[in-house]
Amino acid sequence: MIPVFEPIIGKEEMDAVMDALQKGEISGSFGSYIPNFENEFAKYIGCKYAVAVSNGTTALHLAVAACDIKQGEEILVSASTNIASALAIIHNNAVPIPVDSEPETWNLNLDLIESLITSKTRAIIPVHLFGHPVQMEKLMVIAEKYKLIVIEDCAESHGASVNGKMTGNFGHLNCFSFYANKIITTGEGGMVTTNDELTADKLRLLRNLAFTKPRFFHEEAGFNFRMTGYQAAMGLAQVRKIENIISDKRRVAHLYNKYLANKPGIKTPFEAVWARNVYWMYGIVVDPELGITRNELVRKLSDQGIETRTFFCPMNLQPCVQRVKGFRQIDCPIAENIWENGLYLPSSTNLTEDQIAFVCDAITY
Ligand SMILES: Cc1ncc(COP(=O)(O)O)c(C=O)c1O
Repeated sequence: MIPVFEPIIGKEEMDAVMDALQKGEISGSFGSYIPNFENEFAKYIGCKYAVAVSNGTTALHLAVAACDIKQGEEILVSASTNIASALAIIHNNAVPIPVDSEPETWNLNLDLIESLITSKTRAIIPVHLFGHPVQMEKLMVIAEKYKLIVIEDCAESHGASVNGKMTGNFGHLNCFSFYANKIITTGEGGMVTTNDELTADKLRLLRNLAFTKPRFFHEEAGFNFRMTGYQAAMGLAQVRKIENIISDKRRVAHLYNKYLANKPGIKTPFEAVWARNVYWMYGIVVDPELGITRNELVRKLSDQGIETRTFFCPMNLQPCVQRVKGFRQIDCPIAENIWENGLYLPSSTNLTEDQIAFVCDAITY
């Protein structure tokens, strides 16, 4: 069986977690591992502040909450994404407005944004899907023009960059996930990055039940979105290896590219000239020339012990999104096409060339 993803946990992570446990860093309130992980992560991304949280979903929830969005205001979001990106909007009483995908990168189509902006639009959540960055320089110009807040969803894009600048350093607030299958992991975990000190203070306040002085008197309605010390210890060990992990991800992607090159009916992932794609997952989209449908391909691969996953169901088709008061039904033909015809292949960093060749043979014969 070749799993779609297998986490690789080394001795460094185990030693760090043991050390945190021995020091009693078991909660999210004390100790040095959390600030150390936050500082090293911020330094890696190149931004000023990082605030560790319990997962990527709470990172997004906290980021939107910190923006004081009012009930019924609209937030544009990539149509093709994990439901967590839209849930952060819904649970903050705002309205998600899906933006269809680009055919090449599968990220939100920047040319559609201006036509979707209304007087109610307050923010944009661009998602760097499967590790390919959104062209953030272009997106920030549009956001600036309409005075919109930008919250990057970097759950799948740790280390991806646009003209050398990393995702997580363009938006006003930026959210990462450290779930087990992410580029780096703490099992469950997340981070919000920002370059604004007041925003960082607000994130820290809201993350921790909005405790102020006197203790147990609460001006703001906060959350308990804290990460534990031993998760931060694991994250610290992981962030020190991140460039090696990314070069393994890129090695796997380049091998798939080699074996799938010029195969009719298969569209392989894109890497724009201005981008570093970190290939979180190696996604392909099939078309009729392949001779079998996506679902038939999934079954064929599964019969040979190869695990795959389909692409995300787009936000415009999600019942829980459609039920939001004020939701506007927007067609997203590209996002719908990749949801119906896209799948991602095994993408663990320890895949061998033989395994990758075996997967590609199974696809094409
Ligand atoms: C694009 C995207 N956003 C948000 C999340 C949510 O992160 P988490 O699973 O850590 O809550 C994920 C993945 O899980 C994701 O892929």
